[in-house]
Amino acid sequence: MQVFREKDPLIQAIQKIKSEGKSVGLVPTMGALHEGHLSLVSNALKESDQVVVSIFVNPTQFNNQEDLDKYPRNLEKDLELLKTKIGDIWIFTPTANELYGETILSENFDFEGLESVMEGKFRNGHFDGVGTVVKRLFQIITPDKAFFGEKDFQQLQIVRKLTEKTGLPIEIVGCPILREDSGLARSSRNERLSSQNREKAAFIYETLKDVKQLFGTESADYVNEWVENKFKDHPTLDLEYFEIADSNTLKKITKKEKGNNYRAFIAVYADEIRLIDNIALDN
Ligand code: PAJ
Repeated sequence: MQVFREKDPLIQAIQKIKSEGKSVGLVPTMGALHEGHLSLVSNALKESDQVVVSIFVNPTQFNNQEDLDKYPRNLEKDLELLKTKIGDIWIFTPTANELYGETILSENFDFEGLESVMEGKFRNGHFDGVGTVVKRLFQIITPDKAFFGEKDFQQLQIVRKLTEKTGLPIEIVGCPILREDSGLARSSRNERLSSQNREKAAFIYETLKDVKQLFGTESADYVNEWVENKFKDHPTLDLEYFEIADSNTLKKITKKEKGNNYRAFIAVYADEIRLIDNIALDN
């Protein structure tokens, strides 16, 4: 395992292996690694000769300073965890100056509406920040493939749009959501839940599974109302949004049409911890 803190030596190392005809797979992360991240690394190892994992808490995608300050950082623990993975992984952990230069600013992107729904609506400017850092990482690392989790499905679709619009020749690989035994989607935020709330948060995925079944026979309006009612009297979980949307455009469903792919998306607060999840629906 090799750790690069500066981009130039990494660029040189990548040029060298590319000149030998080897392929590069990138897994971008913000650290605080868990099994969900490691599953992306496993997929990347299967599909690439050299895997680069980036660990960088990106300031431009946080909509408030407090959230950024509170984001868990433990590089030593992350490196230890990655060491246990087979394969000669390269780690890129730049400082904000190294990655952005003097001015740490977001670019403004037009993701054709993908950025203005759900997470985009509730986290202003978030996807401009994600687009900015991912584009930067793509330019530095020039991967053949980049691996993103379906846990952040909206982000995955935005990154697909980013590569389409920038014309960067990178294949974006979506990887399935890894869950705890209870069904709760794995997330670094789960560590911040009390053990009681962590147990209660299993309710989110249980609801999504019920939604999948209900959507087979009922309309989207019916399912929306059903979910809202389920959360109305919940003692610990506060529903922020629930939406059934087209998987490609992320537009809220108006009428179920055969042949379209739909997904249900949810954001919930457990105390002050915000949890998101989603599920593919049969149609
Ligand atoms: P981060 O939250 O660290 O997530 C890094 C990657 O791990 C993302 O692609 C995310 O979808 C994936 N991931 C997280 N939990 C997962 C789970 N339970 N199952 C499967 N995949 C999971 O997402 C970001 O960082 C940042 O926005 C980033 C893309 C690195 C840009 O800064």
